Amino acid sequence: MGVATVSANIHPGAASFVTKKGKILINNKWSDAASGKTFATYDPATGEVLAHVAEGDKADIDRAVAAARKAFEPNSPWRKMTASERGRLIWKFADLLEQNTEEFATLEAMDNGKPLTVARAADVPLAVDILRYMAGWATKIEGNTIPISVPYAPGAKFFVYTRREPIGVVGQIIPWNFPLLMAAWKLAPALATGCTVVLKPAEQTPLSALRLGELVVEAGFPEGVVNIVPGFGETAGAALTAHPDVDKIAFTGSTEVGKLILHAAAGNLKKVSLELGGKSPNVIFSDADQKGAIQGAASAIFFNQGQCCCAGSRLYIEKSIFDNVVEGISDQAKKIKVGPGLDPSTQMGPLVSEEQLNRVCGYLESGFSEGATAAAGGKKHGDKGYFVEPTVLVNTNPKMKVVQEEIFGPVVTATPFTDVEDVVKQGNDNIYGLAAGIWTKDISKAHRMAELLGAGTVWINCYNIFDAAMPFGGYKQSGWGREMGHDALDLYLQKKSVCTML
Ligand code: NAI
Ligand code: MG
Repeated sequence: MGVATVSANIHPGAASFVTKKGKILINNKWSDAASGKTFATYDPATGEVLAHVAEGDKADIDRAVAAARKAFEPNSPWRKMTASERGRLIWKFADLLEQNTEEFATLEAMDNGKPLTVARAADVPLAVDILRYMAGWATKIEGNTIPISVPYAPGAKFFVYTRREPIGVVGQIIPWNFPLLMAAWKLAPALATGCTVVLKPAEQTPLSALRLGELVVEAGFPEGVVNIVPGFGETAGAALTAHPDVDKIAFTGSTEVGKLILHAAAGNLKKVSLELGGKSPNVIFSDADQKGAIQGAASAIFFNQGQCCCAGSRLYIEKSIFDNVVEGISDQAKKIKVGPGLDPSTQMGPLVSEEQLNRVCGYLESGFSEGATAAAGGKKHGDKGYFVEPTVLVNTNPKMKVVQEEIFGPVVTATPFTDVEDVVKQGNDNIYGLAAGIWTKDISKAHRMAELLGAGTVWINCYNIFDAAMPFGGYKQSGWGREMGHDALDLYLQKKSVCTML
């Protein structure tokens, strides 16, 4: 394991994009913040400034919301567009993104720190995919006809149908772990359903969303349909959430901020959907294919530097194979090549920010002070950038913070269990319920477990498998609503019953 050197072959589009000041997109036009302020975004591999970006706040949010409202008015070009035209426009947007895969993957690696190889193979193609999947839905948003029998209107005949209509102006607040992909998860269903959007990217990683804004304009979306306001959570994000003319907020991020958003949304009772934290159990039975399970469990936690809401961060291993599996995962952890995202040989990049580095190291210290020990890793890596060693913690107990709380870094706790009952109890002993993993060759046991674990996604003999068609979201405090799949459309639609007496 050693910090690799940065490749000189940076994609020229991405290299030049970061030299320009990032701006705010409102009505298809780029502008500075009303305050004139800017903020810096950093290269997590070095801690050096990468680019400067306009710092939007309440005044800019107000202007963006007004633009989105105007674009949603009944006779606006967007509202007059047919469903088929809307679908084709989203498809064109997806094509443009795909044509620029290398540039987006590079920007993502530079701003977030993730390996370029991963951004190229996963982040960008998955973003293209959700846009195409949702583009197809634009023409399939149907209502029903409903036979009614009204007891107090004997003999009367009625014709009842439902319409599914866009909610309206939507505020979307996204995190930094998958900056482009989260933007796509949010924009795709909102656009397919005919909503208009004000998107606020995370302050740590605004660049790919801003480049995406250029493609919004290039694709030909009418002005005001997609507005993008970079800025901080406490200012721009809070202003968007509290805005009386925003009809819905879709948020991905911490559970703590999710709760703040609920309070802020109470002002005008805007609709809210939330994709929050997780502390997902990953369960390995002694009858599993051990080699596959070890590899799968390592990637379940170390993928994206462990900065995944669904990371398999609590590993439960059946007692008889505990030592073997811990050794296998620790070996994998020690072999991972940690380095800058732009280096093609890097397997794990830095954490996104100094704040996140300190948070993760704080959890490690807390675990050690309570008696946990590291079978692999356990500390910051190198003296430059925000790197943390892939870490496997053992000798934990269920009450420790490292077992209960979301660490959001490359840190897994490994705990032995005795049987199904024991592991279901331990697995469900958490405020979160985003995902779970099960490794076994016994299909009955696997599906019984899938029912018993409180999680929005259960992976059996695999982990971190995502598809635009497969709903994703949280049980318990992991959130409200499901993104992806046709369920995601419901987050942006409201149903109207139309009742006619014949
Ligand atoms: P955060 O929840 O503060 O940030 C996520 C987004 O919310 C950003 O765009 C931010 O600007 C915005 N935001 C922050 N405060 C806001 C407010 N008061 N009103 C409206 N918007 C606001 O997450 P942060 O601080 O970056 O990370 C903290 C922890 O949250 C992580 O360690 C991790 O545990 C969790 N997290 C979970 C994510 C997920 O995918 N579910 C993604 C990012 C963080
Ligand atoms: Mg925060």
